[in-house]
Amino acid sequence: MARKTVRIAMNGVTGRMGYRQHLVRSILAIREQGGVALGDGDLLWPEPVLVGRRQHALKALAEQHGLEHWSTDLDAVLADPTIDIYFDAQVTSAREAAVRKAIAAGKHIYCEKPTATDLEGALELARLARAAGVKHGVVQDKIFLPGLLKLKRLIDGGFFGRILSIRGEFGYWVFEGDWQPAQRPSWNYRAEDGGGIVVDMFPHWEYVLHELFGPVRSVQAQVTTHIPRRWDERGEAYEATADDSAYGIFRLDGGAVAQINSSWAVRVNRDELVEFQVDGVEGSAVAGLRRCRVQHRAATPKPVWNPDLPTPEPFRDQWQEVPDNGEFDNGFKTQWELFLRHVALDAPWSWDLLAGARGVQLAELGLRSSAEGRRFEVPELTL
Ligand SMILES: NC(=O)c1ccc[n+]([C@@H]2O[C@H](COP(=O)([O-])OP(=O)(O)OC[C@H]3O[C@@H](n4cnc5c(N)ncnc54)[C@H](O)[C@@H]3O)[C@@H](O)[C@H]2O)c1
Repeated sequence: MARKTVRIAMNGVTGRMGYRQHLVRSILAIREQGGVALGDGDLLWPEPVLVGRRQHALKALAEQHGLEHWSTDLDAVLADPTIDIYFDAQVTSAREAAVRKAIAAGKHIYCEKPTATDLEGALELARLARAAGVKHGVVQDKIFLPGLLKLKRLIDGGFFGRILSIRGEFGYWVFEGDWQPAQRPSWNYRAEDGGGIVVDMFPHWEYVLHELFGPVRSVQAQVTTHIPRRWDERGEAYEATADDSAYGIFRLDGGAVAQINSSWAVRVNRDELVEFQVDGVEGSAVAGLRRCRVQHRAATPKPVWNPDLPTPEPFRDQWQEVPDNGEFDNGFKTQWELFLRHVALDAPWSWDLLAGARGVQLAELGLRSSAEGRRFEVPELTL
């Protein structure tokens, strides 16, 4: 059995996503399990090189996890021919320039969404990566969530019959930061720093809808900033210039309608922080991060509208839990393993920078739809 090393420059690992999901729960977890099996008995061994702006933070991270390699000099790391992959989980506004450099240096690319701050930039990254002949991918972690994997299983098994509609509810209360610290970074609430719930969440909704139900053909959105003033990491008040809530309606290929609310200014009265209800002629399902419950046509109650009496039926109890039928790993890690196999073995892979650009496109059209009070068709992207 041979161990083949793949060296990954990981930029933005001091951030929430870069650290928790990508470094600790993906790359370090892969190392803990011994690497990625390549199928012939060989193992792929990821070796992270931590990259960032703050020397002391990188050094501390490296020491904490027993890692040898870190640098504050991105250019030097990219000039190193032993680096195979450039990974980017920086703030969104810093991504495009860094990914361009990495493509120019001939590195394979894997990065967080959104891939750029506008569609032109996102498409250009996809074009450059294709022209350079490097492998490229974008994080699309939600499709690897247990709840959505079970939903996919239902769709593939024909449970729904014709799918009519999808209603998604995402959100929770993000504290303003004055009397309780905010649980998200302040740049998320400043448009000038790449923040906003539309650019953050519409890329997720694009691939979730596309992968499960089909391409989005039109978008109509109402976007707003419910909380205009927040307090940052230093306790200083700032104006929230970015949208914190978006109410979107998406028409899908084939005619199904998806309606998704995204908000950092709602309180949770749901079982999970995101839930999708799918209604089909033959049955319905409610899928969250981990759970998925169904109600079949044959087990559908017949409610009769009568507000003069208490609701006679326990509607929520009438749904049936979809069993796991397997073990679910962390979604970020699963996608990393697939990407590493794509790099090492040319294994099939569809979540590339063009797919990433589709997410940016939907966010851009959603914002325009709200600003102009119009519904937009979503043109198919090609390179
Ligand atoms: N896939 C997902 O579910 C998901 C969830 C949240 C965020 N994200 C994406 O991940 C990226 C990082 O988000 P996060 O929540 O981890 O952010 P964060 O603020 O916690 O981390 C940002 C990282 O970027 C670095 N950085 C580089 N240039 C910077 C600059 N000019 N100003 C501030 N920081 C700078 C920081 O040092 C830090 O390492 C974003 O693009 C975001 O859209 C993805």
